[in-house]
Amino acid sequence: MKIAVLKERRADERRVAATPETVKKFVGLGVDVVVEAEAGAGAFMADSDFQDAGATIAGDATAALADADVVLKVRRPLMADENAGDAENAGDDGGDELAQMRKGQILIAMLNPLVRRSDCDAYAAAGIDAFAMELMPRISRAQSMDVLSSQANLAGYKSVLDATEEFNRALPMMMTAAGTIAPAKIFVMGAGVAGLQAIATARRLGAVVSATDVRPVAKEQVESLGANFVMVEDEETAQAETEAGYAKEMSAAYQKKQAALIAETIAKQDIVICTALIPGRAAPTLVDDAMVASMKPGSVIVDLAVENGGNCTLSKMGEVVVVNGVTIVGHSNFPARLAVDASNLYARNLFNFLSPHIDGESGNLSFDFEDETVSGVCLTRDGAVIHPMLSAPTKPEGE
Ligand code: NAI
Repeated sequence: MKIAVLKERRADERRVAATPETVKKFVGLGVDVVVEAEAGAGAFMADSDFQDAGATIAGDATAALADADVVLKVRRPLMADENAGDAENAGDDGGDELAQMRKGQILIAMLNPLVRRSDCDAYAAAGIDAFAMELMPRISRAQSMDVLSSQANLAGYKSVLDATEEFNRALPMMMTAAGTIAPAKIFVMGAGVAGLQAIATARRLGAVVSATDVRPVAKEQVESLGANFVMVEDEETAQAETEAGYAKEMSAAYQKKQAALIAETIAKQDIVICTALIPGRAAPTLVDDAMVASMKPGSVIVDLAVENGGNCTLSKMGEVVVVNGVTIVGHSNFPARLAVDASNLYARNLFNFLSPHIDGESGNLSFDFEDETVSGVCLTRDGAVIHPMLSAPTKPEGE
């Protein structure tokens, strides 16, 4: 069995899907690994490091893909129909990565299938067996394969550092001979994996932190990190969480009550970190123009949800904008801003996912489709879209 590791082609992508550490482990299981030249460059991993770990280096993607059985990537392949207007594709250097793959190959990456539904039809039409790591079930056994957690954790940490960089003041309380500096107030919206790490990071830096969520279970987690929990609690919040632990889209009536509470809270904050997401849907709008206008000049908003439409109406994908003295940070791809750690964790997630299905004697891969970590992420198989969340066929113009 041969695994190919491709160089990522999107302009904001510095991560790589395998590292010398995971290559060594795959080779130890009897697997051949071929790495496209410079694949690790964005994460400071040299071709020679991959070679020392037992990989061969291919000059380009075509050579890497030639006789590979499994293709490991970070992001979904570029498609022929993509253009600069595609937010996720802004600034890429072009090319049709899917066309380079051949029938029967297995593709494992973060494929964003709930948003890029028609891509799944394209994988099926091309005879590619595609696996989307974002759909990994949130069960204890699969925690070591959970790419959403490994990447969101780093994004949450980095969002606070990015905020401090734009914030022209100190975060902790400082008592000096020249007087006392008050601690900064940070409000974290959405207390999932990214939000909880943002809270922990902001607390470590000495800020006074509060947070909000629609899932009542988040209260205890937020408070255990030493932050105040701010939330509209009503009969709807009792049902705000899906069985999978995700938030539901809230009713218009709830959103109105929530907006009033947020408006009151936000006006007193120095930094707002937005992390609220709803799987497969646009991110909820939580911070509107008027709320931004209510903040003091010099305040900072970091919108981690910007790639899903943003929690703040004024954030712009891939940009840092200043509105009435409030800096709004909308960097794309926060995990790639910590490319070394993000690659290391992502690559381990992929190894942990694949290795139980590799025969250590022969090095061959045989997926157990009874295993929910496999069936939960498999989008296409033998030319058909099979994932239950993708049951309805799509029209390409529906996106
Ligand atoms: P996410 O990235 O989908 O959303 C981020 C946060 O935004 C969530 O806490 C969500 O409740 C919140 N949110 C959504 N709409 C909101 C709104 N209108 N206002 C305020 N907040 C809003 O979530 P993430 O981080 O992927 O976590 C989802 C769940 O999965 C959590 O319950 C988490 O504890 C759980 N989890 C379980 C794991 C396991 O292996 N058992 C591993 C990792 C996470």
